[in-house]
Amino acid sequence: MASSLSKSSTLIFTSLLVSFFLTAESQQLSRRISQRSLGLRKEKLSHFRFYFHDIVSGPNATAIRIVEATRTNRTAATGFGDISMIDNPLTIGPERTSRLVGRAQGIYTSASINGMGLFMAMNYVFVEGKYNGSTLSILGRNAVMSPLREMPVIGGSGLFRFARGYAEARTHTFNMSNGDAVVEFNLYVFHY
Ligand SMILES: *[C@@H]1O[C@H](CO)[C@@H](O)[C@H](O)[C@H]1NC(C)=O
Ligand SMILES: *[C@@H]1O[C@H](CO)[C@@H](O)[C@H](O)[C@H]1NC(C)=O
Ligand SMILES: *[C@@H]1O[C@H](CO)[C@@H](O)[C@H](O)[C@H]1NC(C)=O
Ligand SMILES: *[C@@H]1O[C@H](CO)[C@@H](O)[C@H](O)[C@H]1NC(C)=O
Repeated sequence: MASSLSKSSTLIFTSLLVSFFLTAESQQLSRRISQRSLGLRKEKLSHFRFYFHDIVSGPNATAIRIVEATRTNRTAATGFGDISMIDNPLTIGPERTSRLVGRAQGIYTSASINGMGLFMAMNYVFVEGKYNGSTLSILGRNAVMSPLREMPVIGGSGLFRFARGYAEARTHTFNMSNGDAVVEFNLYVFHY
């Protein structure tokens, strides 16, 4: 009788203790975990190359001006403050009809009063093979008149979790009469 009483009080005490620690644990903001618990093994460096089609003209435009800023004498030349929303195709070759590998979704805006400098904020969503649905996020300055521009790759999702790197952009063709551009992109990305 006495021993079963002490047994059950030990049991009650133990479960109180356990629930105390469980509660304490669930109220922690952060805790250390291993890389392996998220399936992160070896970090890799990958090079991606594709073409970005900035189609501003015609019925199938994929880059749409959504804000036209008030012009002042100083900002008129660069369209400072204008904002475009894009869902541009990314293809494996420079022709618009070549294989689609992804889309560039986001915005760019003229952020430079003197000279052409775009602020770009985009997600590149891939549609090919194992990368289908994975995204890379790019945030940077695009001095479109320079032959070579560099923008940071600041993160990603899916296969690109914890990604970081940089993108190199080179204008492949620019149609002066309608404003359409094809830009070669080379991305160098660390990811798992
Ligand atoms: C626009 O897209 C439609 C549907 O895909 C296509 O039939 C048409 O030829 C395209 N027009 C131009 C100018 O590319
Ligand atoms: C802006 O340009 C117009 C036309 O060139 C000129 O008349 C005006 O004085 C300029 N305004 C300023 C604030 O410089
Ligand atoms: C990519 O994923 C979408 C949505 O899950 C699916 O509909 C599509 O068929 C996939 N494409 C390829 C090439 O795997
Ligand atoms: C440039 O745009 C004009 C006007 O839309 C078009 O007629 C011409 O074919 C385009 N040039 C190229 C090389 O695509």
